Amino acid sequence: MLLTRKRRRALIAGVATVATAALGIALSTQLASAQTTLRGAADAIGKDVGVAVNYNLLQNDATYRNTVATEFNSLTAENSMKMEVLQPSQGNFNFSQGDAIVDFAKQNNQSVHGHTLVWHSQAPGWIQGLSGTALENAMADHINTVMDHYRGDVESWDVVNEVVSDNNGQLRDSFWLNGLGEGYITTAFELARAADPTVDLYMNDYSIDGINAKSDKTYEIAQGLAAQNLIDGVGFQAHLILGQVPSNMEANLQRFTALGLKVRVTELDIRIQMPADANELQQQANDYRRVAEICAGIADCSGVTIWGLRDGDSWVPDVFQGEGAPLLFNDDYSKKPAYDAFLEGLGGDGSDPGPTDPDPTDPDPTDPDPTDPDPTDPDPTDPDPTDPGPGNGCTATLSVQSPWNTGATYEGTVTAGQNLTGWTVTWTWPGSERISNAWSISGTLDGATVTASDAGYNGTLSSGQSTTFGFNITKPDGATASVPTVTCTAR
Ligand code: XIL
Repeated sequence: MLLTRKRRRALIAGVATVATAALGIALSTQLASAQTTLRGAADAIGKDVGVAVNYNLLQNDATYRNTVATEFNSLTAENSMKMEVLQPSQGNFNFSQGDAIVDFAKQNNQSVHGHTLVWHSQAPGWIQGLSGTALENAMADHINTVMDHYRGDVESWDVVNEVVSDNNGQLRDSFWLNGLGEGYITTAFELARAADPTVDLYMNDYSIDGINAKSDKTYEIAQGLAAQNLIDGVGFQAHLILGQVPSNMEANLQRFTALGLKVRVTELDIRIQMPADANELQQQANDYRRVAEICAGIADCSGVTIWGLRDGDSWVPDVFQGEGAPLLFNDDYSKKPAYDAFLEGLGGDGSDPGPTDPDPTDPDPTDPDPTDPDPTDPDPTDPDPTDPGPGNGCTATLSVQSPWNTGATYEGTVTAGQNLTGWTVTWTWPGSERISNAWSISGTLDGATVTASDAGYNGTLSSGQSTTFGFNITKPDGATASVPTVTCTAR
């Protein structure tokens, strides 16, 4: 995965260089601002944009999978890599949920941020009863086994989570502190460094986003670990309250990068007292934009991860009574104002309505055509919509997202004309265009005639539903990026 990420970044850097050198600053600016997905915008500036994924939704909801694949280049397991899930009883490891998330990330060229190895919460009962050598051995066994299992697949780990107390600038009172003493944090980092010297090691916490007693204590710990070369970054959870992005957040992150560390916004959500009105949703958009701008403006900020996809998926209403609506997507997967603003904060184009953005003037954004007398009938001119007929059950189109002199990025859209469990698209390039790399499809991709099928997770569509895939091509220097006609066949 490390190599994959480096390849992804190298490709993007290469594109930017070609665009700047051959086409001039004006066009390269235009290309950067043409990004209409979060991952497109983040890729263009060499950052991660991540989402905390819920294992059950990833298993069961095709639109969830499609949105996670399309919008994010980094994943964090919301719960699946916590100790209570990975080692529910001593010595018995269960990696099935975490592995499913890693597999999904690999299929979609996404990196994985590991969360979390040593935490007082969501730790199994058996370890909370240990102390001294028994607890240290259990810590070592967990770190070694988990980091070994995910070697090459997880590129950064939250080694310790929430180790500083909320109110007195001291270490948090926990079974780790009580059982091992203050040295347990250094021990955890030493074990993690030895287990896999190639991954980035983070300490992660909440309410350290601005400069305060808790972030001062975090700074002191990070400084000590950095002096021993045991830490690579600090994660700022950023579970924020509406209108309260700390005014000194940027300065706070910069004092950590001045230690030679990376910083990362690891669990961003911005909660609103419910019900949320239009003004509050606009304020939330401004807050999201600000956090994106802060990370985009700091070279050593590795990225921003949003703590969940849709408002209804969020942990916030369960924990902060009366508060909610903290994320970028509504429950029907339409985008909130915060999405557009966050995209713009990353340098993308938030004015593009995008495929899942409902038209605000449309009384029913789930209805593809309000003038259609029967919105449940995918094609009212077709007497038998269950018969796939001449359309082969689906249609597909290609569009050029961003061209450069010797290549281009394309997006393909497949729309189901019936309920289907898989699809195949085929087209022939008119000239010497050839695909160099692709995502969300697999098949015979590199010849003049392309025959590609869904990537599994995006194969099941209900009638009327769409999904997207993408690829880059190489083409002769200066040639126009052509748009071939695509034939789509459903399975
Ligand atoms: C939360 C999850 O979102 C919930 O599903 C779970 O019930 C509790 O944990 N800080 C962290 C995250 O580091 O792991 C927490 O995630 C949110 C606060």
